[in-house]
Amino acid sequence: MKHFFSVEDIDNSEQWIAEAMQLKKSPLAHKTLGTHKTLGMLFFNPSLRTRLSTQKAALNLGMEIMIMNFSGEGWTLEFEDGIIMDQGSSEHIKEAAQVVSQYCDVLAIRSFAELKDREEDYKEKVLQGFMKYATIPVINMESATGHPLQALTDALTIVEHKTETRPRVVLTWAPHPKALPQAVANSFVAMMQKLDVDFAVTHPKGFELANQIIKDTPVFYDQDKALDQADFVYVKNWSAYQDYGKTSLDFDWTLTKEKMKITNEAFLMHCLPVRRNVVIADAVLDSQQSLVIKQALNRVYAAQLVLKKLLDKK
Ligand code: CP
Repeated sequence: MKHFFSVEDIDNSEQWIAEAMQLKKSPLAHKTLGTHKTLGMLFFNPSLRTRLSTQKAALNLGMEIMIMNFSGEGWTLEFEDGIIMDQGSSEHIKEAAQVVSQYCDVLAIRSFAELKDREEDYKEKVLQGFMKYATIPVINMESATGHPLQALTDALTIVEHKTETRPRVVLTWAPHPKALPQAVANSFVAMMQKLDVDFAVTHPKGFELANQIIKDTPVFYDQDKALDQADFVYVKNWSAYQDYGKTSLDFDWTLTKEKMKITNEAFLMHCLPVRRNVVIADAVLDSQQSLVIKQALNRVYAAQLVLKKLLDKK
């Protein structure tokens, strides 16, 4: 693995999850692996969990950390090759990526979809630009179309808590007042397709994910039908892929206590942050079935595993 860009970089999901569990048991077992190594973290968008869990992971491996909130503090970047830079952009990705590579040993980047132009977002120009010109490994801390660190965390959380050999896992769309990217849902679907689970997705008409993501995963437009006998319910809003960026506040899709009764006393999952009583009702988030806080802890071990694999190769 040269970079950790997508779920496709996880070559053996069972083994990765077992290794992450081992790191959770002994987080300081590789405390010297990252000695004199620096993790650079560039944020084009806000974060709580990704930023702190990845820092914690790096600290567990003995790394130094440098962080920059790029959107507020960096030069406006140009990504197009051969362009005459006489407009708003001050620095080309070619120089920026090579310069940062001289200061760090691993580079982690967060850059969300802008949700204006689907083709542009799905080109992943920021992550692809850094991977093209950086001379060090790059980690995706949520890009325009994927959040693989979250998906690895989610897989670890499901394997830790499952009581059935092949649990039923349902990803359900939920309402949201703001247009959110498809990144978390895209990566969760790709991750579940790699696990031995009975997986389905449910959403209202118009919120279909890209065909290249869904593949042959069953899709239900009837949320109640999808939730029947679910062992894990993963709740997440995403804006439309077809009518790109369209959102909806259809409260009929809020995950409530009544809907959880349809399930097999399912565990609740959400990547956080979550809008209470819009996406998920208080009674469900505050119930014993909620894994959201434990899930957030697992972000550390997913990030630590990825960092460890990249450092092991250096
Ligand atoms: N789940 C997640 O990525 O959280 P943050 O946006 O707070 O990093």
